[in-house]
Amino acid sequence: MSSYPDFRPRRFRRTERLRGMVRETILDPSHLIAPLFVKEGLTRPVEIASMPGQPQHTVSSLIETCGLLAELGVPGVMLFGIPAHKDAQGSAAWDPDGIVQRAMRTARAEIGDRLVLIGDLCLCEYTDHGHCGILRGETVDNDATLEVYARIATSYAEAGADIVAPSGMMDGQVGAVRRALDAAGHADVAILAYTAKYASTFFAPFREAAESEPKFGDRRSYQMDPGNVDEAVREARLDIEEGADMVMVKPALPYLDVLARVKREFGMPTAAYQVSGEYAMVRAAAARGWIEEQPAMLETLSAIRRAGADLILTYFARSAAEYLRRG
Ligand code: PBG
Ligand code: ZN
Repeated sequence: MSSYPDFRPRRFRRTERLRGMVRETILDPSHLIAPLFVKEGLTRPVEIASMPGQPQHTVSSLIETCGLLAELGVPGVMLFGIPAHKDAQGSAAWDPDGIVQRAMRTARAEIGDRLVLIGDLCLCEYTDHGHCGILRGETVDNDATLEVYARIATSYAEAGADIVAPSGMMDGQVGAVRRALDAAGHADVAILAYTAKYASTFFAPFREAAESEPKFGDRRSYQMDPGNVDEAVREARLDIEEGADMVMVKPALPYLDVLARVKREFGMPTAAYQVSGEYAMVRAAAARGWIEEQPAMLETLSAIRRAGADLILTYFARSAAEYLRRG
């Protein structure tokens, strides 16, 4: 390649039309999935202080939001449930009449196939101790937890889930869920695996929204150490061997290198989860006038796409889709 002055990269930076012509990364509403919270027993939506604009929904406000998202071209939603009653086993999680199961049935009836319904599959919102699995003493018992995940997966499939997303970071969770779904006649239900989920401080606002803060200790005995990336590749290999249809990296922005590597090594449909703390940082800085919200939002989403995400789970799904539709 010849150098300056024969090659002038600035020629394609001169106008927006020229820039758009050579832009490598495209962001479209079809790349976004909205995580939504639905709480049992609410009579009206409740705002979450640390996640402005992301309420705990009632079933009816959830369905209304689902309709808006479908209208905007957002292809799917990920549901998180907050039950009225918690216990040591998290038994509300696999209740056929549980909050997520009811929300899914209603969403399917009202929205039909206009939205892909994804159920986040975990126990932390359902256990009275707030951990993602069944305890033995003060540690989470991996294999006892797998049996419970299998029950939840089947109940989600029966409620009409298109995709279940095991998020507890138990070893073997994808295989356990796949076997349970197949045995119950749900071979068509797909698995979105939370493959590389890091023990991140950026989850804090979510725990307020999902009422899932652990009552003692932390999640470092199951979620990944933030320093590791080779391990994320091994986790991805395991999940794919166990039957994952799509893999995920979470959080997104602080882990773009992990995302890029997982996408490059496996070429799987790959999602990234822009988590609550990432959302809160942009909203909080913008509220203080320290950054501009809309360009910051678009730049983060575009960076996550550029690093290799086919899909982005983001609390900005609705506002980004609104912006993108306006053009
Ligand atoms: C736990 C779970 C977490 C999130 C979703 N499911 C994290 C945690 O509490 O450890 C975080 C999502 C977010 O921060 O937006 N199964
Ligand atoms: Zn959990």
